[in-house]
Amino acid sequence: VSPALRALLAKGPAMDRKNLVTLLGLTDADDRQALYDAAYAVKAETVGRVAYYRGLIEFSNRCIKNCRYCGIRRDNTEVERFDTERDDILAMARWTYEAGYGSLTLQSGERQDEEFISYIEDLVRDIKKIGNGGLGLTLCVGEQTEETYRRWFAAGAHRYLLRIETSNPALYARLHPQDGHHEWTVRRDCLRALGRIGYQVGTGDMIGLPGQTLENLADDILFYRDMNIDMIGMGPYVVHHQTPVGKEVLAAGRDSQEDKLHRLHLGLAMIAVTRLFLRDVNIAATTALQALHPLGRELGLRAGANILMPIVTLPQFRSQYLLYDNKPCVDEQAEQCRNCLSGRVASVGDTVGLGQWGDAPHFFHKK
Ligand code: 5AD
Ligand code: SF4
Repeated sequence: VSPALRALLAKGPAMDRKNLVTLLGLTDADDRQALYDAAYAVKAETVGRVAYYRGLIEFSNRCIKNCRYCGIRRDNTEVERFDTERDDILAMARWTYEAGYGSLTLQSGERQDEEFISYIEDLVRDIKKIGNGGLGLTLCVGEQTEETYRRWFAAGAHRYLLRIETSNPALYARLHPQDGHHEWTVRRDCLRALGRIGYQVGTGDMIGLPGQTLENLADDILFYRDMNIDMIGMGPYVVHHQTPVGKEVLAAGRDSQEDKLHRLHLGLAMIAVTRLFLRDVNIAATTALQALHPLGRELGLRAGANILMPIVTLPQFRSQYLLYDNKPCVDEQAEQCRNCLSGRVASVGDTVGLGQWGDAPHFFHKK
């Protein structure tokens, strides 16, 4: 590893866009390892060598959106749609609390009708009663009005996850239908509203999208900084064979083992560079990493991630919540996922932050 790279890795938040691009583009195995090691050292210093869990309940795959890359997009008629019973969601939330996960994430496709909005509002209230408000609660249910976000915040939700997918409006436009319902500016404004209301705000991108450049990815990291983001959930793009983008990628022959490894490495580099640049935010090692490599999530923790999202979704619905092909953990039960993940964390040399919310220090430092 050259002295020039060492100096670059030490620059941290002082890096400029060109520096970010250089690091994202490293191809030599030793150079990449040096990047991951530097990011891991910053993680140890800023957020600790602790993996915090957010139990993930994917409670419904109904979606009004039609994102061209996603397996549960509205126009995919081959997916059987499901809703989880309210009591089952509450039972899984209690399980999550008792398993010591500290936090829960409720995720579904997007809906904006009043029935959905008040359903979530009541559900949040009931989940907050578990352990007397002991369970941290993140919502990940898409674009909503500021008023809706306020209602859910008042009910007790305090974190919200909404990926920008890409900070580049032109690329965003290629990935989404141009029907007036998939506007990049609306999404950005949602993130602003969430911050105003007082949520801990999470966003992220997909990495290795067709047509995406290293400059686009560097801009995504700059976007996280400029939007004062607390939590980052990002991961490699993974083909879903029943989607327009997936079909294009397959037809172009761009989904070989080599292509997948490239997207994995880019995903890990994004984690590491984001850690070096933003330091005290939460960064998730997402399941998509593991769709591309059996040790994807461990590699994510080694590259600077500090959050894991064990799947708590009921076993009978797991195979109906497939945003991409080869999703792991589909045949497992929550209990198995718990044991599996604690082994993965231990293999990295980190510990699990049991029973803690694991808020990002950034949220308390920011102005
Ligand atoms: N590959 C990777 N991530 C995907 N998502 C949706 N489809 C895919 C895919 N094919 C991600 C999006 C969305 C999140 C819930 O899942 O980033 O915000
Ligand atoms: Fe719906 Fe989200 Fe999939 Fe888009 S990415 S189609 S909003 S579930």
